[in-house]
Parts: sequence; C-alpha cells; structure tokens
Amino acid sequence: MKYTVAVVGGGVIGLSIAWRTAARGFSVTMYDPDPGHGASWVAGGMLAPTAEAYHGEEGVLRFGLASRARYPSFVAELEEDAGRDAGYTEQGTLLVARDADDAAEIRRLFDLQQAMGLPAEWRTSSELRRLEPALARTVRGGVWMPLDHQVDNRRLIKALCAACSTRGVCFERQSAVEVTSSSVRLSSGELSRADHVVVATGANPSVVMDDGALVTLPVRPVKGQILRLRSVAAAVCPSHTVRGLGIYVIPRSDGEIVVGATSEEKGFDTTVTAGAVMDLLRDAWELVPGIAEAELVEAKAGLRPGTPDNLPIIGRVGCEGSGPIVAVGHYRHGILFAPLTAELVTGLLTDSSTSEHTELLKLCEPARFEAREVRG
Ligand code: GLY
Repeated sequence: MKYTVAVVGGGVIGLSIAWRTAARGFSVTMYDPDPGHGASWVAGGMLAPTAEAYHGEEGVLRFGLASRARYPSFVAELEEDAGRDAGYTEQGTLLVARDADDAAEIRRLFDLQQAMGLPAEWRTSSELRRLEPALARTVRGGVWMPLDHQVDNRRLIKALCAACSTRGVCFERQSAVEVTSSSVRLSSGELSRADHVVVATGANPSVVMDDGALVTLPVRPVKGQILRLRSVAAAVCPSHTVRGLGIYVIPRSDGEIVVGATSEEKGFDTTVTAGAVMDLLRDAWELVPGIAEAELVEAKAGLRPGTPDNLPIIGRVGCEGSGPIVAVGHYRHGILFAPLTAELVTGLLTDSSTSEHTELLKLCEPARFEAREVRG
C-alpha cells in the first residue's frame, strides 16, 4: 500500500514537493484553489545567488548555491516527466552601475563576492558593453557573474503541473483552513486524512497540532511589483540578465522582458501603483534604453513570504517534531530554492536525509521561530 501525502499550497515549492514525492512512490494530493498562480507566477525567475549575496546572509547564499547546482538535473528530469520545456536558460548575469554612487556600492558587493570565492569578474564600461550591446552608453562598470542564470517561472510552473499529473498527483482545488500532522480541513468543511502533511502556503503558514495547539511562524508578505514587456528587436532585448541596484531586467528567449521589482512592507496588498510602474521603467531604461520601444504587456504585484533571517522554514513543527512538515518563507528565492527544498522534504518523508541535508535543515529549522498557543 502506498503512503499518502497531502501538500497544502500549490506554488513552486508545493508543486516541486508534490512532483518529487509522487515520483518516489507516494500517493499525493495537492490542496490549492488555483495552483501555480500566486507569487511563483508573478516572480522573475532569477537563479542568481552570487548577484544576491549580501553581508550577513551566508546561510541564504549557501542554500542558494546548493539549490542552483541542482537546477540542470532538476530541469532535465522535469522536462522528461512533463513532456515540455521548463524555460531554463544558462546566460549569466551582469550587475551594472548607472552612476558613480552605484559603482562604489557595486564595488563593495564585488569585494564580498571575492571574499566568498564566488564566480564574479569586474568589467569596465566598455567591456560590459562589448558583452551586452543593449546596455546604455552611460553605464559605469560592473560585475559579470557567469553562473547566475534564469528560468522562465511560468514555463517552470506549467511544467511542474504537467509533471505532477504524469506522476498521478491529485489536484483538490480548495483552500485548506486547518492542518495537523495527519489531516487537512478544507474550506468546504470536509476533513481529509493523510499519512503525512506538508504545508507550503507561502506567507500565511499557521498549523494546528493534534493536541489542539496553534503553531504560528513569523512569515510576512513582502510586496513586489513587477512588469512584463515584449520585444523581439535585438537592439531592445539584452541577451543576459541585467541587474542594477534595486532593479533587474530579465530577457526571455521568446521576446518577453521582465522588469522588477519593488520591495514593500504593505501587508496583503497587491495593488499596482502608477509610481512603482514609473520608477521601474525609469530605472530599467537607464540601464537598457531600448526597452522604451518595447510593448508594456503586464504589471502585477506578488507577495514574497519573508522571514526574520531571510532563510526559509523547513522541517517538522511541534514538540519533538510531532507536527506536520512545513516548507515556507522562501522570501526572494522561491524559484531558486525549489529543487533543494523538494529534495530536503523528500529526504524527511523517506528517512533518507544525507549529512548535507541535515546541515541545511539545521539552518532552516522551524524551532528557531515557532510560537505555540494552546487553544481553548
Ligand atoms: N529575487 C528577486 C525578487 O525578489 O524580486
């Protein structure tokens, strides 16, 4: 008899877990009213741990490098199961200064990248423009990061949904209102039981323990407004991901150009504002002026699930791990962290965690934050 797994939340993390666990022989049900259409759909899809390495975030960097290393095989297996392209492109990333202040700040980031032994090389303005002719003539130097790639998040999501179907994952299009280690209460009131429950609900991950205690984790929504443009003209569309300070431009092979993203502490608000669209377009235009010719196709806002230390929360909750498994709080890196998160959760479910898994799980353990409230 197959063990059953209930995965609550159908973003890139939940879908990756559902696919990987179904491929390992579990009978999996995914609970989400609209799988794949939350923050993962809105995201940019940068796989850029070097470009996003910051002081004091060594754990985030470690997790990102380990997950990025898994991307090629993850995508190859996914495309095999899905029978479709997952949109992974190895094209490298440029971190580019618009002015002297940017150049000084990017130099500091480059020093950090060097100190951490990351693959990053300084380039002068003319070297940058030879590498990427779509850049503005006014750029002031920057960093070439040959191993920071991208994946088209929407193709990835569609591939994950297809691969889940291939592996027999059952999609239950309802919200879960309460979860325990062995049950999911649906919005219809129905109670569904499973041998294992995995919570992958992004920004709102409360769970109820079997003893009635409510466990909450400090995951908050961090709003990101992001634009999608379209152009097939070579002079408009860069051939690498171009990052500036507080802005990025990601070109897709089909002519889509993603421009992101704001970072706003506004609660559960997904309004798109004129000011944000204006700022994003201006900042992107200063790096890649040709985008002024592109069609503006979409402006959306997504909610990144942020945690106090910017690391995800992965593992069993509750006293001595008696509760469900959570995999939440992936903040800016849901797409990047998905392969490793799915591997860690599968390791927990199959009792096959390696010593590398154990170390990574230690970084992400729920107990560092868990608050427990006994309900009357
Ligand atoms: N990692 C890109 C973003 O959060 O906008």
